[in-house]
Amino acid sequence: MGTFAVTGSASGMGAASAAVLAAAGHTVIGVDLHDAEVVADLGTAEGREKAAEEILSRCGGTLDGVAAVAGVGPNLPDAAAVVSIDYFGPVRLLERLRPALTRSGAGRAVVIGSNSASTVPMIDDRLVDLALAGEEAAARARARAAAEAMPAGLRATAPSISAYASSKFALARWVRRTAVTPEWARHGVLLNAIAPGAVATPIMLGSTGDEAGRDPDAFPTPMPLGVFGRPEDIAFWVHQFLRPEARFTTGAILYVDGGTDAAMRPDGQPTAMTR
Ligand SMILES: NC(=O)c1ccc[n+]([C@@H]2O[C@H](COP(=O)([O-])OP(=O)(O)OC[C@H]3O[C@@H](n4cnc5c(N)ncnc54)[C@H](O)[C@@H]3O)[C@@H](O)[C@H]2O)c1
Repeated sequence: MGTFAVTGSASGMGAASAAVLAAAGHTVIGVDLHDAEVVADLGTAEGREKAAEEILSRCGGTLDGVAAVAGVGPNLPDAAAVVSIDYFGPVRLLERLRPALTRSGAGRAVVIGSNSASTVPMIDDRLVDLALAGEEAAARARARAAAEAMPAGLRATAPSISAYASSKFALARWVRRTAVTPEWARHGVLLNAIAPGAVATPIMLGSTGDEAGRDPDAFPTPMPLGVFGRPEDIAFWVHQFLRPEARFTTGAILYVDGGTDAAMRPDGQPTAMTR
């Protein structure tokens, strides 16, 4: 049986992922702002360091997998915090834990992105570039300025929508760029992402309101399957990505969104190689 760290373990998809791993007999080190083995704020450098230290201490320096699930949604008023939590949180923590994953011999990491990265037409390329360059302070300032420049109506309902979609976009790009580097791939540490759509958790219900939360056909994006996702629908795939048998997939972005991305961008994948 293995040892796995799960961030965001106190609620929603993270709680469901921790439960699936525990039910399979694994040791789970939950990380969250509250109600977790490791209590830490992944939105700050100090919090990430505290989380890494405590995870490494609890696992004895060897980790079989990490599920980086913790995150916030587009309704958080502070767009800078969204960047720090949704992009720098998983990226910095995974960079810090990579040596422990290497020691496992079959280390696995999975991050939770969002289909908003490809279905929200508000990606801020500059913010994405700053995030990928590791410029947290500049990325935060950019996100805050962009949020303040948004139309008042949108700012009232989804003040961090651009920062959120851009952070998840950058995260997906980081996964694809990083997974194939020798530091990860040649040490047998596989790194993949899941892009959920609308999943009934406090994040989704908080950003769309209870009424839309009850009727998938009233949701702002198409829901071809006619149902919202449940946290367990994501946890199932988290578990699959973390299994040692999942040994030939890295750099993947798996949409678990009831068909939303395919409905909105049927020809979006594959993209042809251009000369
Ligand atoms: N629910 C959706 O519809 C949806 C869709 C796409 C992506 N996502 C993403 O899925 C992930 C899980 O969200 P969820 O829907 O299960 O929401 P949730 O609110 O149920 O769970 C998120 C958890 O992350 C924790 N968290 C938030 N900020 C943190 C911080 N700074 N440090 C440590 N922990 C922190 C929260 O305390 C909470 O327990 C998030 O990354 C979110 O962006 C959610």
